[in-house]
Amino acid sequence: MIDVEGLTKVYQRVRGDGAKALDGATFHVPDRTVFGFLGPNGAGKTTTIRILATVLPPTDGRARVAGHDIVAEPIAVQRSIGYMPEYPGFYPTMTGAQHLDYWGQFHKMPRAERRARAKELLDLVGLGDERKKKAKAYSHGMLKRLGLAQALLHNPPILILDEPSGGLDPYGMIFFRNLMRDLHREGKTIFLSSHILSEVQQTCTHLGVIHKGRIVATGTHEEIQARLGPAAAPKALIEASEVPGSAVDGLRGVAHVTDVARADWGLIVSMDSDVRAEVNAFLVNRGVAVRGVKLAEVTLEDAFVALTGGKPT
Ligand SMILES: Nc1ncnc2c1ncn2[C@@H]1O[C@H](COP(=O)(O)OP(=O)(O)OP(=O)(O)O)[C@@H](O)[C@H]1O
Ligand SMILES: [Mg+2]
Repeated sequence: MIDVEGLTKVYQRVRGDGAKALDGATFHVPDRTVFGFLGPNGAGKTTTIRILATVLPPTDGRARVAGHDIVAEPIAVQRSIGYMPEYPGFYPTMTGAQHLDYWGQFHKMPRAERRARAKELLDLVGLGDERKKKAKAYSHGMLKRLGLAQALLHNPPILILDEPSGGLDPYGMIFFRNLMRDLHREGKTIFLSSHILSEVQQTCTHLGVIHKGRIVATGTHEEIQARLGPAAAPKALIEASEVPGSAVDGLRGVAHVTDVARADWGLIVSMDSDVRAEVNAFLVNRGVAVRGVKLAEVTLEDAFVALTGGKPT
């Protein structure tokens, strides 16, 4: 669906030093997948996305989107994609509904269809009640939602979304995750960028990891997870005082528990799958006063250490 080969970008005019924002990136986004493009700030995610969306010309390399060359056939590419920029720009004095109508005209949709589609999409992204508000009165999260509606307007087979969940509140995150799942089920191919590992782990079927303009890993969720190895293994943080040695030893025998370490505040339990509930039940049954059970997040930094053998610098 998206084929990228040796894609390179040098922002000469601004930087003048010939540094490569994107350095020979090669990867493939298979049809009907949710591909998470993961990398720290400045890795080259937005640069890649803007090139794929045909807003920025590459310095070198090639890319095809839905079978169309991004340089030779930009119009065909634009028809095939719904693109949401990192910071969607809207006209401050136009309402959400007016924006969608305007973009519908751009896509040459007939009036009745534009209206119906605008209403449907504003409801879908949770802006139904805000449809008559001007864009300048929209919050950041609301602008993101409107950006999503705009990307979906012409019902494109491919969505290219730059940090779509950035700045969303927890409800927004859940809404967004469910929306991605529904769109994936409908058969769309989704390419989205993020710097939050846990987010792409939950949303995406495939992952590409970019660091300093180079692709350091690509593959299915499972393949990347396997390469992350112990760094990505879930750890339960058990807050409890006075855990007897017998309980710690016993815990080591619980299925899927791979290691138990003591901390000032309790125990750190390494697992090869999330068996927090079983761990908690085991301790409670032994009379341990468990005050809290949390899942430790794997940070993007941990992931990079596992994937590249060194910390991102
Ligand atoms: N318009 C520009 N002119 C000059 N340099 C740029 C421009 N846009 C990006 N860069 C540089 O290119 C590199 C990659 O930036 P890019 O915006 O693609 O990163 P990113 O992965 O999207 O980061 P973030 O997570 O912060 O959004 C950075 O070194 C950045 O400084
Ligand atoms: Mg970016």
